[in-house]
Amino acid sequence: MRRLSRFEQKILVAMGLVALAPLAGAIVLGRSAVRDAYHTGVNERIHAQLEGSVDLYQVHLETLREDAERTTDAIAYHHALHDALDAADRRAVDAHLGAMLERFPHVARVSVRQGEEVLAERAPDGMDGERRPVTLRRMLPAETLATPEGERERPETEVEVVATAPQAVFDRFQTAGEEAELYARLLEQSEFVSGTYVGVFLGLLGALIVVALGLGVLLSRRVTARVTSLARAVRRVGAGDLTVTVPLGGRDEVHELTEAFNAMVRDLRASRARIEYLQRIGAWQEFARRLAHEIKNPLTPIQLAAQEMHRSYQGDDPRYQRKLEDACAIIEEEVATLRRLVGEFSGFAKLPRADLEAADLRDFLGDVERTVPAILEDVYEDEEAPAVEFLVADREMPVRIDAMMLKRCVDNLLRNALQALRGREGGHVRLRALREGEEVLLRIEDDGPGVAAKDRERLFDPYFTTKSDGTGLGLAIVKKVVLEHGGEITYADSELGGACFEVRLPLGGRPSARPPKKSET
Ligand SMILES: Nc1ncnc2c1ncn2[C@@H]1O[C@H](COP(=O)(O)OP(=O)(O)O)[C@@H](O)[C@H]1O
Ligand SMILES: [Mg+2]
Repeated sequence: MRRLSRFEQKILVAMGLVALAPLAGAIVLGRSAVRDAYHTGVNERIHAQLEGSVDLYQVHLETLREDAERTTDAIAYHHALHDALDAADRRAVDAHLGAMLERFPHVARVSVRQGEEVLAERAPDGMDGERRPVTLRRMLPAETLATPEGERERPETEVEVVATAPQAVFDRFQTAGEEAELYARLLEQSEFVSGTYVGVFLGLLGALIVVALGLGVLLSRRVTARVTSLARAVRRVGAGDLTVTVPLGGRDEVHELTEAFNAMVRDLRASRARIEYLQRIGAWQEFARRLAHEIKNPLTPIQLAAQEMHRSYQGDDPRYQRKLEDACAIIEEEVATLRRLVGEFSGFAKLPRADLEAADLRDFLGDVERTVPAILEDVYEDEEAPAVEFLVADREMPVRIDAMMLKRCVDNLLRNALQALRGREGGHVRLRALREGEEVLLRIEDDGPGVAAKDRERLFDPYFTTKSDGTGLGLAIVKKVVLEHGGEITYADSELGGACFEVRLPLGGRPSARPPKKSET
């Protein structure tokens, strides 16, 4: 795994801080919230209340028990029962039990037994509500009383009373006991529970932070990788390498930055090429100036000397006379050619800088079109000339140009095309002008032989020519002028089958002399 970059570290620290600040608050708040919420429901006061209610039920039950005991006593030790027993009067015993049942409605059954023998037993017809029985017994000792007739002892007698208490009281007592116990347990666990809550809460938040940080690293890594490659590219450009292009990726600000960077490098490359070319041309111009100067000076003496030789011949040898005339004619002709060359060289050397002014390229090309017959006349004289076609878009094409210099350029390009078609049947030259984005595109093409691949590189170099009478200065001048217009010129293959020269000029301010057309605003 790659080491984290500083940018990534910063993002992580920022995310960590953002996550941790609320985390600390959340822990404190969460802890106290859990504790408060818990303590509202689970606290000592309620616990005491619960315990109190258990005690209360206990007291109530005891009272009920005591009540049952008293009832039993009242039944067992009643004098009427003892009288009946003493008299061994079963019916009286039974009547006593009946009376007692009426007096104590909560008694479910009552019986009197002597040894194995049941003397009497009574139970009410029915009872209302669910009740729980409590069986209580009283032994009436044998020696209590003597029977009046005879000394016979009354056998030991047992009184059994089944008293009842409402079942609900028992149930409630049990429930209260269970609840009090549960509550006591909850109270004991209260610390543990709030600890658990906070623990779970912390665990969840922690997991969330880890996921967030992971995502952060992932996202920032994608961005930083691209930023790093941009930085590397910037360093290369700084070291003078203008061939770099940084691959685009992702639709975001880094993408925009990369695009802008690539465009900048492209522009730098173009302007460096432009500057280099102009510097080279400058050197060639200096060379042309010296050459013209050196050649021009001896031309007049040579010409005068030849003329003098011709004029001063006094002899009468007709063959020598003819030779002399031929030689003089050749010298005159060559001197004339040299003068033309010198003219072209010094014209190239003195080429002024383009002085740009706002104009509409349509108007400019209209002017150029009017000079076409003269160019045809110049190149083809009496021969049949190729067709020259002008296709100019019917749109405003505002540019900043030096009309005279640019005319010279188009003239050169048209001448080259026409010259390339010399000796061919029915040639075709086409000039096309149109707007393309922020540029105007001027294309001059022909259906001639085109430029051989090996010559394309040197096409715009001064003195490169394939013509016997060429100087090779035409395209050099064209390129210099186009570059000075902030444009560029390239060679391409033409659809027509021959050469195609493409000139691109930046769209400039509107020409002030010509108000914009209504349809275009
Ligand atoms: N339209 C064209 N078709 C074919 N070759 C061309 C064309 N234009 C220019 N060239 C080539 O480019 C060379 C340089 O042209 P240029 O600089 O105008 O000099 P020159 O016309 O004096 O030769 C020409 O000699 C020719 O070989
Ligand atoms: Mg030429």
